[in-house]
Amino acid sequence: MKLLEEKIRAEGRAVNEEILKVDSFINHQADPVFMKQVGELFAEHFKEKGITKVVTIESSGIAPALMTALALNVPMIILKKQPSRVLNDKLYQTVVTSFTKGTSYELTLSDQYICEEDHVLIIDDFLANGEAATGAVRLLRKAHATIAGVGVLIEKSFQPGREKLTEQGITVYPLARIGKMDKDYIEFLPDEEQNEK
Ligand code: G4P
Repeated sequence: MKLLEEKIRAEGRAVNEEILKVDSFINHQADPVFMKQVGELFAEHFKEKGITKVVTIESSGIAPALMTALALNVPMIILKKQPSRVLNDKLYQTVVTSFTKGTSYELTLSDQYICEEDHVLIIDDFLANGEAATGAVRLLRKAHATIAGVGVLIEKSFQPGREKLTEQGITVYPLARIGKMDKDYIEFLPDEEQNEK
């Protein structure tokens, strides 16, 4: 998808063969006009799927997920990385271990905000090793919700996240796909929809 590719070419920086820095518009500072366009692209792709909620994992997924939810006119849910202090809620929880960051956290969702009638779109910034996304899928399945797909801004296609999700029957829709990186070098893969034509 050209929008993302152009933004990454203009503002992103490959730190090494694994890490892309996009602090100026995704991870540290957010660009609202750009995020609105991102939300509209995800909404356009998933608009016929009967989505009832958009779900993301705190924190960098929140901006694109909110814009997607706005465009689809549905609520957005933030999966927390630590349990809420509200004691009365029944919580769904699952442990996620990030290879990229070398950390573990307990992904948490209150049963107040999800039910088995929900058909959910998961939105996140990066798909790398896919532990966060597969954790979100696990959690939503615990709540008996169904999953329409996963939309990510940037798929690092040389890492196994996409495959892990596809193996579980989950559709992935990336706005940009990176095939290869090295310090100050980024190679994009072609848009999948163009390939299908
Ligand atoms: P993992 O299995 O290695 O943990 O991969 P996953 O796809 O779950 O990504 C783990 C975390 O690392 C995510 O952030 C993701 O956004 C971030 N990440 C992965 N690759 C890159 C990269 O190339 N550049 C940047 N900037 N981030 C990357 P998170 O833990 O959910 O934190 P947050 O940023 O949303 O707060």
